[in-house]
Amino acid sequence: MTQAEASARATQIRLLLNRYNHRYHVLDDAEVPDAEYDRLWRELKELEAQFPNIVVAASPTQRVGATPNITFGAVRHQVPMLSLENAFAEDEVTVFDSRVRERLEQTGPVTYSAEPKLDGLAVSATYLDGKFFQAATRGDGETGEDITQNLKTLATLPLKLKGVGIPRILEVRGEVFMPLAGFALMNAEAAARGDKTFVNPRNAAAGSLRQLDARVTAARPLDFFIYGVGYVEGTLPRTHSKMLKSLQQWGFNLCPQIAVVEGVDGCLAYYRKIAGARDSLPYQIDGVVYKVNDLESQKKLGFISRAPRWAIAHKFAAEEVLTRIRAIEFQVGRTGALTPVARLEPAFVGGVTVSNATLHNMDELARKDVRVGDTVVVRRAGDVIPEVVRVLAERRLQGALPIQLPTQCPICGSPVTREAEQVVARCTGGRLCSAQVKGEIIHFASRRAIDVRGLGDKLVEQLVDAGLVKNPADLFDLTRDQLLSLDRMGEKSASNLLKQLQTAKATTLPRFLYAQGIRDVGEATALGLARHFGELALLRGAGEEEIQRVSEVGPIVAAHVSRYFQNADNAQQIDRLIVAGFAWPVFEKKNTAPTGEGLDKTFVLTGTLTQLTREAAAEMIVARGGKVSSSVSKKTHYVVAGSDAGSKLVKAQALGIPILDEAAFLELLK
Ligand code: IVH
Repeated sequence: MTQAEASARATQIRLLLNRYNHRYHVLDDAEVPDAEYDRLWRELKELEAQFPNIVVAASPTQRVGATPNITFGAVRHQVPMLSLENAFAEDEVTVFDSRVRERLEQTGPVTYSAEPKLDGLAVSATYLDGKFFQAATRGDGETGEDITQNLKTLATLPLKLKGVGIPRILEVRGEVFMPLAGFALMNAEAAARGDKTFVNPRNAAAGSLRQLDARVTAARPLDFFIYGVGYVEGTLPRTHSKMLKSLQQWGFNLCPQIAVVEGVDGCLAYYRKIAGARDSLPYQIDGVVYKVNDLESQKKLGFISRAPRWAIAHKFAAEEVLTRIRAIEFQVGRTGALTPVARLEPAFVGGVTVSNATLHNMDELARKDVRVGDTVVVRRAGDVIPEVVRVLAERRLQGALPIQLPTQCPICGSPVTREAEQVVARCTGGRLCSAQVKGEIIHFASRRAIDVRGLGDKLVEQLVDAGLVKNPADLFDLTRDQLLSLDRMGEKSASNLLKQLQTAKATTLPRFLYAQGIRDVGEATALGLARHFGELALLRGAGEEEIQRVSEVGPIVAAHVSRYFQNADNAQQIDRLIVAGFAWPVFEKKNTAPTGEGLDKTFVLTGTLTQLTREAAAEMIVARGGKVSSSVSKKTHYVVAGSDAGSKLVKAQALGIPILDEAAFLELLK
């Protein structure tokens, strides 16, 4: 790259960064994910390092934040509010630590204060003789906005400090944020009123704090954790951690996860611990921060441009990144449902490389208006399926057309239908569609259905494509020779699979019913049917009306169930399975309504239980006449929380729903 090229690219990046900065800091409405901002920032830094002549004073690398909004009064920071260097990989932390040790001429491990990096906004609050005087946002680092009146409304902000040794002038710095529970509740209430909701807690916090009417701020669930000081007249302890302790004693709130660690190993162990606990923390964090603990050492290390040399932010893998849509295809599931899927330029998000993302259904696709070639925000948090969040409309290529629902199934060519008022479009091919056949067999053999170990999705596809299996019953006619004719199938795997198929025939009635894949019949309904009828033969002979007596079943599901058993193909299939040797212990029939506390209550299960699986817990609830729901709402009666419970627990707390641990749950069901 020539200097001219570098200069042109740098100018382009600066324009983008300035625009993103303005949208983020002034309008509280980020245009691109943080990861995209970080990526451009790094590119600019590298260009400026390679070609120092192209650096200009106005470059975003030379200052922080954005020009403050003039609607608020301006507050000049006596000590600039700086930013932090970012590390994404462990070796960047190692490099940081070696530089620190080099500059301090220290051979042994350095002691660090390790802290969660809260995802809110930086705020400075000044106290004169222990009395709250003034507060400001970071602004551009030199000058911020006066938010004194707004910050005053925070319940946890001390207006008068208590204790001894309080400096005459004390400027504390920290993060104002919105706890997840409060965020969920506030958004739920806004949605109920039909108002606009906030995209994330950080935007909500920023929007709430920068209100011209402080009464609005007062009504918002904001909190403030202190992580340092600015201008101080008076004496403070000699280490960062002791200083935080003093601040706490004087009345400030600290983040409870702050810890003192030794050396780079201590830092990385802390990072892993916090990353593991991230989903169960009551607030959003986007990484951790390591700070040299000794304040004298901090002074020695000093600053470069806009960041201290004594601290670094170790960020988590971005959960939202930008990428491009290569194609949009339709997948066909076991019920014939067509799901639009985005094929992406591979992107590193949430710690893994992602090249597909679901678009859910045609309504979602139309709502987001995703087109081929679009630049999109892709999100993957925790173990959830990667999702296209939104399109960057300003980057759409000319001539990109909206996606149409195909009129024919992409797999079998049968017509596609979409009933009025239905979100789901379906292939009408039924068992003529190989995608539906594969889906049906995969479901039949799945762990919670018949549980045929060793029969994975790939093998099912092979069996169907080779024409060896056309329905679940065909599985039990497979011969050793047929299996051996398949690619990559050895003697051992073949005989194992035959053995597993044999074992799987001893099952339970609810599993057998669930395995049929009857529309809208999940595990709970299957269990309800089994409990009500006790015998398969009675269910097969029952009319819609009788089926509707099952407490889990309404008229629509009853119609699906009755139609399923009346269909000749299905009847033959079931007969074949029974002839093949399917059997189950007699199911204890309970015609009377079950009694007990669980009756008529709706439960949500979250986290890991130790004594039983979540499925087993769900079965127990249903067996006692309760309901199990997958999401927490005002209609939820109890949330059963195991270890590592995440957002559902938070939401339950926000809605004030009783939370049971495993022991309390088992007690309730006794
Ligand atoms: S220390 C000079 N500690 O991260 C040191 N910052 O990019 C300045 N942040 O503007 C910051 N948690 O808003 C520090 N425990 C923590 C933090 C933290 C969140 C934010 C803060 C700052 C940004 C730095």
